Amino acid sequence: MNEPARLDVAPGAAALAMAACALELVVGRGVTAEAALQSLSIAPADRAAVRAIHTGALRFYPRLSPLAGTLLQPGQQVPPRVHALLVCALHQLEYSRAPAHSAVNIAVDAARVLGAGSAAGFINALLRRFLRERGGLAARVDVDAATAAAHPRWLHQRLRESHPTRLSQLVAANNESPALVLRVNVQRATRDDMLRRFAEQGIAAAPGLADTSIVLEQATDVSAVPGFDEGLVSVQDAGAQRAAELLDARPGERVLDACAAPGGKACHLLERTPGIELTALDIDASRVERVQQNLARLGLAARVATGDAADPAWWDGQPFDRILIDAPCSGTGVIRRHPDIKLLRRPGDIGSFVTQQRRLLARCADLLAPGGRILYATCSVLPAENQLLVGDFLREHPSFQRVREDVALLPTPRSAGAAALTDGFYYACLEMKAEGA
Ligand SMILES: C[S@@+](CC[C@H](N)C(=O)[O-])C[C@H]1O[C@@H](n2cnc3c(N)ncnc32)[C@H](O)[C@@H]1O
Repeated sequence: MNEPARLDVAPGAAALAMAACALELVVGRGVTAEAALQSLSIAPADRAAVRAIHTGALRFYPRLSPLAGTLLQPGQQVPPRVHALLVCALHQLEYSRAPAHSAVNIAVDAARVLGAGSAAGFINALLRRFLRERGGLAARVDVDAATAAAHPRWLHQRLRESHPTRLSQLVAANNESPALVLRVNVQRATRDDMLRRFAEQGIAAAPGLADTSIVLEQATDVSAVPGFDEGLVSVQDAGAQRAAELLDARPGERVLDACAAPGGKACHLLERTPGIELTALDIDASRVERVQQNLARLGLAARVATGDAADPAWWDGQPFDRILIDAPCSGTGVIRRHPDIKLLRRPGDIGSFVTQQRRLLARCADLLAPGGRILYATCSVLPAENQLLVGDFLREHPSFQRVREDVALLPTPRSAGAAALTDGFYYACLEMKAEGA
C-alpha cells in the first residue's frame, strides 16, 4: 500500500494520516491493530499520537462509521482511505479534547498527506456540517442500542444474552482505555518495595486486585517502567494473575502450560513456585520466541516447546500433575486492550473457538496424572466458551470433577478503583479423581 507523502502541513496532520492508513488496513485487510501499526513507517515523534488515534478510532468504529455515513448522500461511496480518514477525524471531534476547528484543519491537511488533496474540500465540508448538526446526526445513529454502545450488533446481542443485568458495565469497560497493570516478580521484590520505588520516582501507582498486582495511573511505554528491564515487574492484568494461585502447583510437580505464548502465566507460575518442572508449549513458533524472551528477562527456566497440545508428538509420555489450558478464545473479556476485536471477530468465530477449546480440554485430559489438576482458562465472557463447555466436558468425563467454584470475572471499569480493576477472565479448576476414588 502507498504510504503518505511528507508535506508542509499542520502539526498533527501526518499522525492523523498515518492513523487513517492503519485503520484502513484493519478494516480492509483484516490485519490486527498492532500488525497494521508495525507495517507502517511512522516518524518516532508521531508514534504515540498515531497509536492513540488508531486505537480510539477502532474502539468507537461501530459508532463512528455509521456517523460518517450520515454525512454522505444515500448510496454515495468514498474511497476506503478517505472513509478511514473521516472516521479518525470524527474520533478526534467526538472523543478527544482537540479543539474542533483545529481538528478539522488537521483532517484537511491529512487528506493532502494521504495524496487525496482533491478530497480535502469535501472532508472540510463534511466535518463542518458535522459540527453544525452534531446533535441531530448523533441522535440518528444512536437510535440503535448497539451503535450507541459502539459495539457490532451481533456482539452486543451476545453480551446482552449472556449478561443481561451487567450489559452497561460491560459496554462501559470495553469502551475505556485500559490501565497498565503490573505483576511483581516475588522472587526479586515485594509489592511494597515496588510501590515505594514508584513513589520515589513520582509515578502514581496503587495496589491492584491480585496480591502481586500494581496499577499505574498513567499508561506508559513498558520499557520505561522502573524495574521492567531488571525483571522485577511484568505487564499482566490482575485477573490474569489469578491463574497461578488457582493452578496451585507445588515444588517438584510436572506442570504443562499447554497454550503458553507469550508466557505471561508461565512466568508467573515459575515466580510463584520456582521448584516446578514446567513445560511451556505453544503451537505458534513465532510466539514461542516471546516465551523465551520473557523467561530470559525474568531469569527463569522452563522446557519450551512448539507443538499442538492436542496432538502430543512433543510429549515424552510422562503424565503431568498440573495442566494450564489458557485456551485461544474470542477475547471478549479484553476488548478494551484489543479494540480491533470489535472489527475482526465474526459471529461464526465463536463456534470455531469452542471446537478448538473442546479438543484441547479433551486431549490434555489424557496427559494428566491421576489426582492431577487442570485449570481451564479463557479471557472470554461468553458462557459458550466457558461454563457450558466445561459442563459438557464433565458430563463426558465422569472421572473429572470441579474442585472449587468457577471464577468468572467481568471487566470492571476504572471508576471501580485500582483494588477492583480486572479484565474479563474465566477459570475452571478440574481434578481427575484419584484411582479407586
Ligand atoms: C490466550 S493465548 C495464551 C496466553 C498465555 N497463556 C499468557 O499468559 O501469556 C492462547 C495461545 O494458545 C496458542 N494455541 C492455540 N492453539 C493451540 C494448540 N492447539 N496447542 C498449543 N497452543 C495453541 C496460541 O498460539 C496462543 O499463543
